[in-house]
Amino acid sequence: MALVPFGGLTAEATKPSDSAETAFVESLLARMTLEEKLGQLNQPPGIGNDTGPKAKAAGTEQVRKGQVGSFLGMQGVKLTCDMQRIAVKESRLGIPLLFGFDVIHGYRTVFPVPLGEAASFNPVAVEKAARVGAVEATAHGINWTYAPMVDVARDPRWGRVVEGSGEDTYLGEVMAVARVHGFQGKDLRAADSVLATAKHFVAYGGAEAGRDYNTVDISERTLREVYLPPFHAAVDAGVGSIMASFNEIAGVPMHANGPLINGVLRGEWGFDGVLVSDYTGVMELMNHRIAADPTEAGRRALEAGVDIDMVSDIYRKDMPKAVRAGKLPVATVDDAVRRVLRAKYRLGLFDNPYRNCDESLEKSQTLTADHRDAARTMARESMVLLKNKGNVLPLSKQVRTLAVIGPLADNPRAMLGSWAGMGRPEDVVTPLAGIRAAVGPETKVLYARGTDINTADTTGIAEAVRIAGQADAVLLMLGEAEDMSGEANNRTSLDLPGVQEQLALAVQKSGKPVAAVLFNGRPLSINSLQEQVPSILEAWFPGVEAGHALADVLFGDYNPAGRLPITFPRNVGQVPIYYAHKNTGRPPREEERYSSKYLDVSWKPLYAFGHGLSYTSFRYDALRLSRKKIPADGTLQVEVTVTNTGARAGDEVVQLYLRDDVASITRPVKQLRGFRRVHLQAGQSQTLTFTLTANDLSFYGADMKPIVEPGSFTVFAGGNSVDNLEAKFEVTAR
Ligand code: GLC
Repeated sequence: MALVPFGGLTAEATKPSDSAETAFVESLLARMTLEEKLGQLNQPPGIGNDTGPKAKAAGTEQVRKGQVGSFLGMQGVKLTCDMQRIAVKESRLGIPLLFGFDVIHGYRTVFPVPLGEAASFNPVAVEKAARVGAVEATAHGINWTYAPMVDVARDPRWGRVVEGSGEDTYLGEVMAVARVHGFQGKDLRAADSVLATAKHFVAYGGAEAGRDYNTVDISERTLREVYLPPFHAAVDAGVGSIMASFNEIAGVPMHANGPLINGVLRGEWGFDGVLVSDYTGVMELMNHRIAADPTEAGRRALEAGVDIDMVSDIYRKDMPKAVRAGKLPVATVDDAVRRVLRAKYRLGLFDNPYRNCDESLEKSQTLTADHRDAARTMARESMVLLKNKGNVLPLSKQVRTLAVIGPLADNPRAMLGSWAGMGRPEDVVTPLAGIRAAVGPETKVLYARGTDINTADTTGIAEAVRIAGQADAVLLMLGEAEDMSGEANNRTSLDLPGVQEQLALAVQKSGKPVAAVLFNGRPLSINSLQEQVPSILEAWFPGVEAGHALADVLFGDYNPAGRLPITFPRNVGQVPIYYAHKNTGRPPREEERYSSKYLDVSWKPLYAFGHGLSYTSFRYDALRLSRKKIPADGTLQVEVTVTNTGARAGDEVVQLYLRDDVASITRPVKQLRGFRRVHLQAGQSQTLTFTLTANDLSFYGADMKPIVEPGSFTVFAGGNSVDNLEAKFEVTAR
């Protein structure tokens, strides 16, 4: 059943490197001076068209001296290949460069933000999205992307929740594997493959108070069972690099965390790729106050296993002296250099340093019809129908007058979300444009912005109410700006920003059928919308094809089936709130005053993990287990039948959860252990089979070793994490 083994629970033998590769790397390493070795570990900011002549000359001179191994954020065939020629032809050893770039959810054809992609619960589509990103990035001279971001996030105040796959470890593993495969392709040496980067290692999403870069203090068990597995899955999928995270864990900053980098990542899992620092992460060890000066920071980072120094310029500038003064063994430097040279070897750069220098591809491979189609498909599949009372949606395309209202209706930049690569607002089909393109000439589309995204200005509400009064149906386009989530963009409130809720409620009073569409990078506590507005569709930031994908869903050309990859709280006071929580000694009960709940708000979420509706309906029955008892190392087949009981075809995301009913360590009330997005015609039934293995049943015991304990387990199956069929089985002692 598991697309990927539940990572982090089994140690892998160290992967043996290819002997020809080893011979090549060792012979090159033997010829390198100390400055050239540390140069390979140096990653300055890229040279761009807007780089001044002095900086450009300095950067180019460093390349000639062999003091640069890679560049950050450099793109475009002309710039990258001119620099590659200098590295290969004018430096002493001619070692080719890596060009790293943040291709997070598309390069120029921007896809939905990763949180939205995860909501599709469709790893095939997600892999395709990454593949398109790789094709366009390599067409522009890039051979390394700093993606996928695989940080589990359970605090929606944290801005970077938008960049990952949400709160669930298993979903995070599946999406990590899909994206690594998409970016790296079947052959890393292929010209359209990029080195992928699983980031940010590790537990970056555990920042206290949801404040980016903040302290993380979690147990080893939580680290190993919640945050590490997606990285393990990425390593097992062959990810070529990993990026260290800015945070500390329990007093040890990750950029100096040898036990987790050299111990777990390399020692337990056998990761033999490159570990790159985050932006000035090496220098920031001084801010963490565990290094008194740059040399100490560089020494601690290199000893911890941080191979590449992104932008701090410490490895290049301060470490030659430190090594000569005996403060750092050259062997430590050599190990890091080996890993960088290996990465370049695996990309085929030594044989073909100009693999990405065909300038014609910049045009022929960018924003193609196929790429736009893939983006539209991904956007449609990412949308989650949260509510649809009275089936306001789908709308008829023959509707006479349609009012489109809200600050996100005609905001192309917002549709790209954060980390939009080289995406351009002019490439975007806005919701308003998509709706206008979808209806016929006999439909009148009225538009009013109503309010800003995030100001107190209510002067536009009257106009919005006026056009709602003239319409037969109303579409509200509400949400956040693209820079209200993403790096450093944290919020203490999860409410709709500004006075958008006031706009929505004023429009709702028009008495017309109203549907609200949300564009946001995090869960929003939209209690009033949930109470007052009959239909609500979560669209995240859908990318360049936003308008067409949205119109496909709003007018029923596509039946939505997305599911929430993260819990939506009722308010920020509930955070952290997630479905895979523990039962506690006093689980919340309405009737029990002394149980774990609040006086002012229900303890339940506004919308649960895995929630999502459809324009049709589904019934689950016949949950069957292949056996009532299995040995601890056995496997169990779980069958469930799902039927489309409605009048139209649609996708359904069948979800399988598991609970260890009684164990020596407290266990979550349920954990996702499998899912499948299936398409069913009206009336059609399908029986799905999932296979549970020991990996799915195991957890870290009191001694912090993975174990499967005999005893009772419960399987849950359904279309979300709440309404499930249940069946029990027993694990017997081996
Ligand atoms: C940023 C981010 C990281 C990104 C890097 C390079 O600070 O933390 O995700 O890849 O710098 O842009």
